[in-house]
Amino acid sequence: MYCTRSITDDIVWVGASDRRLALFENLFPIPRGVSYNAYLIMDEKTALIDTVDASVSRQFLENLLHTLSGKPLDYLIVNHMEPDHCACIGELLYRFPEMKLVGNSKTFTMIAKFFEPIDAERSVIVGENAALTLGAHTLRFYTAPMVHWPEVMVTYDEKEQLLFSADAFGSFGALNGCLFDDEIDFAKDWLADARRYYSNIVGKYGLPVQAALKKLSALPIRTICPLHGPVWRSDLSLLLNKYDLWSRYEPEERAIALFYGSMYGSTENAVNILACKLAEAGIKNIAVYDVSVTHVSTLIAEIFRCSHLVFAAPTYNNGIYPAVQNLLHDMTALGLKNRTAAVIENGSWAPVCGKQMTEQLGSLADFRILEPVVTVQSSLKEDSLSMLDTLAKHLAASLTEA
Ligand code: FEO
Repeated sequence: MYCTRSITDDIVWVGASDRRLALFENLFPIPRGVSYNAYLIMDEKTALIDTVDASVSRQFLENLLHTLSGKPLDYLIVNHMEPDHCACIGELLYRFPEMKLVGNSKTFTMIAKFFEPIDAERSVIVGENAALTLGAHTLRFYTAPMVHWPEVMVTYDEKEQLLFSADAFGSFGALNGCLFDDEIDFAKDWLADARRYYSNIVGKYGLPVQAALKKLSALPIRTICPLHGPVWRSDLSLLLNKYDLWSRYEPEERAIALFYGSMYGSTENAVNILACKLAEAGIKNIAVYDVSVTHVSTLIAEIFRCSHLVFAAPTYNNGIYPAVQNLLHDMTALGLKNRTAAVIENGSWAPVCGKQMTEQLGSLADFRILEPVVTVQSSLKEDSLSMLDTLAKHLAASLTEA
């Protein structure tokens, strides 16, 4: 049975949610599921904005066919060619032999790689600011390369001042009936997943996101329809401001998160003591993570949120404990910038990972490393306790400085 929501009188959400998938991209845990949004415009000509992942294709097709009510589908606009949105292109080409595909030149190159080349008579290649009139609705197309893939474009509906934003402004999380931002408590129930989605999926592409935000700022926008998560029609500035911060690698909060790996508890002990000293110095809302039991996507999201970071690890195989090394690798791959960091190392006979962590963090743009690097040799002793005390003072002073 169909399951749809109306966005306006003649724009319908025809997407679906998947609560069975464990790992998005076979990488990222999604315990709250994920939605794949697709939108149908019912004008003199009909236009579908993107399709969905294969996993929800049956529901999507029921939604689409019901909403069309026997009308043909005239256009499929392909804003993004990643398979979580384009899986049904072949099916629609087959079901609607008159349907034309709308995309930019890179879209069609990618379609030919994932599927087969599209015949010229079924291809509408659009450039920057090109218009497509459906009747009352005129659509315009703007490229948004690397938000999140090179072929990405967004589609703007002039009549409704509505932006079909592709992956931009998306979030992990299935839609539980409530589609719009004014039907949910975004800050309480969605922000963490929106941040985890942005930071891990699009986080590497801060500069392209900034370029897209600048381009889109010229448009009057009342509604944003992303490919994942809620539709925005009430408090657009909430998410726009978050995207601006995230894409400039500015921390959302002046806050501290401590990340540790620990084999037998001594490094964990040092981090717990440091956290207590910070709390006694007046620092609130301290976050502490054991990196061995917390998925790296959650850690990355916290690094996007917090201004101050502490990394603590045992020396392992003359290097950094693998779970901490994995986190540092992800931070480097995503181009993290502009944080204040501190380091605690442990080593029973040759502690060397403090220097290596400091070097890796120091290679990230605008990372400031606070002194001292605390060395624990097997278990915490009075000398390293006094170093922790000094580090806590330096962290507290840095956190509270104007
Ligand atoms: Fe939701 Fe880049 O795909």
